[in-house]
Amino acid sequence: GELKAWDGPVDSVRSPVCVRTADGRLEQIELGSVPSGAEQEAEEALEAAVAAYDDGRGLWPTMTVAERIGCLQDFTNQMISRRQEVVDLIVWEIGKPKADSEKEFDRTVDYIRATITALKDLDNSNSRFTIVEGTIGQIRRTPLGVVLCMGPYNYPLNETFATLIPALLMGNTVVFKPPRFGALLFYPLIEAFQSAFPKGVVNMVYGRGSVVVPRLLDTGKVNVLALIGSSKVADHLKKLHPKVNRLRAILGLDAKNAAIILPDADVELAVKECLIGTLTFNGQRCTALKMLIVHRSIVEPFLRRFSEEVGKLKVGMPWEKGVNITPLPEAGKTNHMTALVEDAKAKGARVVNKDGGSVAGTLFYPAVVYPIEEGMKLYREEQFGPVVPVMPFEELEMALEYVTTSEHGQQVSIFSSNPDQVGRLVDPLVNQVCRVNINCQCQRGPDVFPFTGRKDSAEGTLSVTDALRSFSIRSMIATKETPANKD
Ligand code: G3H
Repeated sequence: GELKAWDGPVDSVRSPVCVRTADGRLEQIELGSVPSGAEQEAEEALEAAVAAYDDGRGLWPTMTVAERIGCLQDFTNQMISRRQEVVDLIVWEIGKPKADSEKEFDRTVDYIRATITALKDLDNSNSRFTIVEGTIGQIRRTPLGVVLCMGPYNYPLNETFATLIPALLMGNTVVFKPPRFGALLFYPLIEAFQSAFPKGVVNMVYGRGSVVVPRLLDTGKVNVLALIGSSKVADHLKKLHPKVNRLRAILGLDAKNAAIILPDADVELAVKECLIGTLTFNGQRCTALKMLIVHRSIVEPFLRRFSEEVGKLKVGMPWEKGVNITPLPEAGKTNHMTALVEDAKAKGARVVNKDGGSVAGTLFYPAVVYPIEEGMKLYREEQFGPVVPVMPFEELEMALEYVTTSEHGQQVSIFSSNPDQVGRLVDPLVNQVCRVNINCQCQRGPDVFPFTGRKDSAEGTLSVTDALRSFSIRSMIATKETPANKD
């Protein structure tokens, strides 16, 4: 929509990075502010998206695919010219290490390009004619309407664009709300959105999600809810649409991915992969390994080596070279991590690594907690932070049971050097989760692969071609075959 100066109330945006005040307190640095109480403006943004879509008759949904791709390429070129500002804001707003913030930006650009390429293929394959029983059918992928996109704070740019880009390319118009942490980083892109797309096609809204988003859904004018966040929030939001069966939901939700480490596993390899899998960006990844299930015969060497490697991780500020563990953006997060560890300790577990679980301001030193048992919060709760629960097993059935009985169904990792053993496990597991990783951590990428989950972990599939399909519907034009049109 239109770019307006905001003179209403604001919420301040604070970095997870703290400074020590003169009286010795640690205080989070203020980075800027975003509008609050902007519900009316959010509704105007939705109206702009509705008008630009115009029940499928608007300029954007009726443009050719080549024209829409042209707009997106223009946007991408402008976005690349603002790389440094966006990366700096990712670093400061969510405390993501600089190298990972750069990776997030570059990966997003790659994702846009891959989606454009996939769309060209999809478009070509859809423009073919099929003749069945005297009817000539031309299948076309058509848009769904107005899409409300919301990404999470851990990948504020990448995961917002993971839905926004395919939604736009398929001819939908979009309203998007940046995450609570990771809102300022969209400022450098506003001009690019404005100049690359026709008016009303992309609209950014601010304000508190708990107030603004229900207001938008209540109108019944949102056709697709595209949310990467928690299943609790998704369940709540879906019910707010007055006609719930008219709302399509594309959701990336909670996960508690486990690694099953078998007695014949290469322990060094398992340690290396599990370290990346559990603690990259402080474990704040939906795909992170959030439970390590290790065969009792190797649990001691595994814990010793894993703890040694955790001890080598560099704890510090996100701009420092080689840093791994950085300040946590969510208020009260260190307290929550401590509470999870204390709960496990009270029920018989211990922190096995030196300094594990110590806190300094918004920094939480990773804690490796062993042995985890049913009944401890860490057994099922998604910690989404730098706590690594480890559970021993004797019978493989017990490890499989953990995955099978989970409310989540995103991914699992298996570590074994016996291909036959791995082969026997893959079939039952791939029917429980949507990706089985062999001798490697869980992860979303490469981003062209389908990304989804079962049970409470997802609805719909993301990643390039799948996402283009998710944000469109197969419509068709049918013509009766006659002697005149037969050839
Ligand atoms: O938080 C969820 C992200 O999509 C995970 O992506 O596996 O590449 O870190 P990643």
